[in-house]
Amino acid sequence: MAALTQGAVTGLPSIDAANDGLRFLLERVFQPGVECRRGTGGRGECDFSRCTRIEAIVRYVGRNFAHQEQVMADSAYPEAGRHCDDHASLLDHLNVMLHAKVCADKDSVKVHDYIAHWVIEHAQRCDHPLGRWAVTRRVVPPTL
Ligand SMILES: [Fe+2]
Repeated sequence: MAALTQGAVTGLPSIDAANDGLRFLLERVFQPGVECRRGTGGRGECDFSRCTRIEAIVRYVGRNFAHQEQVMADSAYPEAGRHCDDHASLLDHLNVMLHAKVCADKDSVKVHDYIAHWVIEHAQRCDHPLGRWAVTRRVVPPTL
């Protein structure tokens, strides 16, 4: 699996903590038996519909994105539209995987690496510029 490194730090503690949480989740959710109906060793019952691992990731990133989008709305961030579109692109892709019966157990490397690459690129393309803008304009208190 591709390494998900620390990546760009935004300077906004709540966003950095949420991104750290996503890294923590991605390091663990693909381990045997975690969030998977197939169970340890992949011997459980699963009809390969709506992968529970992908659903867990969708729930986590959905909460993170909602928080970031609230920060952007509250501070009238000028790049909010493009940033929100980028969030939506990941959620859309994960929902396509859910409906296409992608299994994050059998295809764990593929699912993990898609998300890891998206997170690294999104951090550089969107989260880091948001943090730089917010901190330099002091529109968001550093404790948020
Ligand atoms: Fe973001």
